[in-house]
Amino acid sequence: MAEVELIGVKKVYGKNVVAVKNFNLKIKDKEFVVFVGPSGCGKSTTLRMIAGLEDITDGVVKIGGRVVNNLKPKDRDVSMVFQNYALYPNYTIFKNVSFPLTLKKIPVEIPVKDKEGNVQKVRVKKRKLTAKEITKQVQDASEILKITQYLGRKPRELSGGQKQRVAIGRAMVKNASVFLLDEPLSNLDAQLRAEMRSELIKLRERIDTTFIYVTHDQVEAMTLADRIVIMKDGVIQQVGTPAELFDMPANLFVGGFIGSPKMNTFKTYLDRDERGYFINLCGVEKRITGERGEAFKMKDVAPQDTILGVRPDHITLSNHEDPEAIPCVISVREFMGSSLHLHVTTPTGEELIVCVPTMPLDRNQIAKLVSGTRVYISFESKVMHFFSAETQVNLLVDDAPVVENKVETEELTDKPRKKWRRIS
Ligand SMILES: Nc1ncnc2c1ncn2[C@@H]1O[C@H](COP(=O)(O)OP(=O)(O)OP(=O)(O)O)[C@@H](O)[C@H]1O
Ligand SMILES: [Mg+2]
Repeated sequence: MAEVELIGVKKVYGKNVVAVKNFNLKIKDKEFVVFVGPSGCGKSTTLRMIAGLEDITDGVVKIGGRVVNNLKPKDRDVSMVFQNYALYPNYTIFKNVSFPLTLKKIPVEIPVKDKEGNVQKVRVKKRKLTAKEITKQVQDASEILKITQYLGRKPRELSGGQKQRVAIGRAMVKNASVFLLDEPLSNLDAQLRAEMRSELIKLRERIDTTFIYVTHDQVEAMTLADRIVIMKDGVIQQVGTPAELFDMPANLFVGGFIGSPKMNTFKTYLDRDERGYFINLCGVEKRITGERGEAFKMKDVAPQDTILGVRPDHITLSNHEDPEAIPCVISVREFMGSSLHLHVTTPTGEELIVCVPTMPLDRNQIAKLVSGTRVYISFESKVMHFFSAETQVNLLVDDAPVVENKVETEELTDKPRKKWRRIS
């Protein structure tokens, strides 16, 4: 039960490998925070600095209000689960889980009495746990993690998911205030990962601990986190709830990282006239209405080159009667069961992905949505995200951090505007 705070934390390996820059974050007691970002962005380094496994080059780490910069890992009241959970192969599961408890010492108060039998003072001594106490704690953890029936086995007799649960159990019995997990599920296959994900959600409801969880998988981040910290090149890009990051990404990188399939992007020009803001997309004028339009007016955003982002699930199929619909041709169709992922080409040569739920469609309609078919696509203003073409920062987010290493925009659609023909 502890708050964790990082103030201006920096990590430099050797002379010039800057792994983490000016990391500032306050994690509330019992909060589940997920660090997410691409490989090499500094997630593990940050976690290891909190655990005390890595020196801090600069800044302060506090756990439970106490500065821990110079404390050894064992004195920080944290427990950690790694990606490569090393279980002792020759020990039973019981012994693997109980191992930290055999090292643990608990304080006991011993009253010192005078000749008359009155308590003079209380001496605090430390003692080891009894076999009975250890067994009880192992059994409690095993029940939560559903590994009770395997306690007599050796690790080689367990599946990957079961071994992972043993590793979590071993960390759990330490009963630390802060639980640090570094990609604990990445060795598991997709199905087991999904199962363990829901186990973790249940687990966090049953243990009163602050969780800091590292992953490069945005689905894990979205499903587990109270708050997500998204990192790139050692710098925090945004901190927020999964919904905040999804609905209002601070910059183009966050927009592209969160959400699957990836957000579609177009280079366009954000313009303004007496009626308000608008863009021209593939020859179709789209007015920015509702909240987005109001927000632009309030902030008095200057007309500028913009990168428009629209998520594949937020595009719908429309028809030629819709004046704002963009006529496209399907290039690839992927049948996903509950949805179709249509890769479509716009009249100006941009490639987009559109996710179409199959539920409302009948078999004939689904059969028609194949490569070469013309479709009309449409999306509302409220699902449009506008990023500055120059800085890649969301035009409607005030405190977005400056993007140092921008997302490569060659892959963004930047084709010369072809003359387009309305397809009817
Ligand atoms: N011991 C080390 N010595 C030198 N550089 C290191 C060391 N450990 C990590 N780095 C570098 O620091 C940066 C951050 O590494 P880190 O392991 O924190 O990344 P990560 O976000 O956890 O990535 P991954 O998802 O691949 O685990 C990387 O560029 C990495 O090469
Ligand atoms: Mg890592």
